[in-house]
Amino acid sequence: MQITINNIPVEASGEETILRAARRAGIEIPSLCSAEGAVHKSSCMVCAVRSGAAGQIIPACTTLATEGMEIVTDSEDVLLVRTLSLELLLSDHRADCEAPCSMLCPSGLDVERMLGYYDTGQHREAAEMIRAAFPLPGKECDACKAPCEKACRRGTVDQAVTIRAIIREVIEKEHLPAGNEAPPRPPKDKNLFYSRLGRFTEKEKSRLKETVATPSRCLHCACAGRTDCKLRLYATAENIRRPRYDMSSSLPAMEKIHVGGRLWFEPAKCIRCGLCVYNSRNGFTFRDRGFGMQIVLPEENRPNVSEELAGLCPTGAIYLIEN
Ligand code: SF4
Ligand code: SF4
Ligand code: SF4
Ligand code: FES
Repeated sequence: MQITINNIPVEASGEETILRAARRAGIEIPSLCSAEGAVHKSSCMVCAVRSGAAGQIIPACTTLATEGMEIVTDSEDVLLVRTLSLELLLSDHRADCEAPCSMLCPSGLDVERMLGYYDTGQHREAAEMIRAAFPLPGKECDACKAPCEKACRRGTVDQAVTIRAIIREVIEKEHLPAGNEAPPRPPKDKNLFYSRLGRFTEKEKSRLKETVATPSRCLHCACAGRTDCKLRLYATAENIRRPRYDMSSSLPAMEKIHVGGRLWFEPAKCIRCGLCVYNSRNGFTFRDRGFGMQIVLPEENRPNVSEELAGLCPTGAIYLIEN
């Protein structure tokens, strides 16, 4: 059969959704709650398109193509629905995309990643990052007002991570020579969307104080999924820079659940798309209904969950940490 998408004739088979027919024709429609080859139910409306004949806004991921259909993917009303859907999802999304310390280092050191190496005893790797950021390892930190430590989230829990002292320790341990040339740094992408988690509640502070006892005491604020998160990608593409609506999520910030092996789950980053529920047997499940609906992983179901779900999750809610 033939349909048109943005006035371009596109061949589609009877069992094909508009989303799949469009992508096969090289026309991109965003999608969050669906994934190629996975079971899904439409919920996010990020894939909204307009059906010309009926003038209706419909989800492209579940609507099957029918003969003569006229689809528009980029009209004003479609973009409005798409942006609104993303903004509503973001209003319920309590998480930092990037760590404040890394964002603020004037030398461009990814402080959080360096501390990740430090915490796992990979001091040589931490040293390599320091060497790449600083032409005169040690000197830059001595002369700096340390905005990284001032913005450190651990500082709002009890005491900021002693980033400069840790850098000095690594330099000494690894005998970093001073005087190398720092490579040019790529400029920060100001157009990127940044999700922010805001302030910790007193309860969250107590939990983090008790549970985060890595050698550096770093909370590791940056999102593990930040480089391939579809929510961030589409928010950026739709010119959303900051969340527009007040935060409505009551899920605990930075609650990181170790599922097993390399697999982790962070509920506050979940957009409740259901992909992990529909594609695991006795694994993730829905709890409650309406606004209070949550995705949970009962303890006894943890062994049933596979690492592949990290690839299906559109955000950084389910992720792998390499050992
Ligand atoms: S807790 Fe760690 S990642 Fe977060 S701001 Fe402080 S040093 Fe950076
Ligand atoms: S899941 Fe995506 S939007 Fe959320 S914090 Fe991570 S990168 Fe940012
Ligand atoms: S954890 Fe990920 S895959 Fe599961 S419902 Fe949440 S966002 Fe979707
Ligand atoms: S991708 Fe179609 S409704 Fe979410």
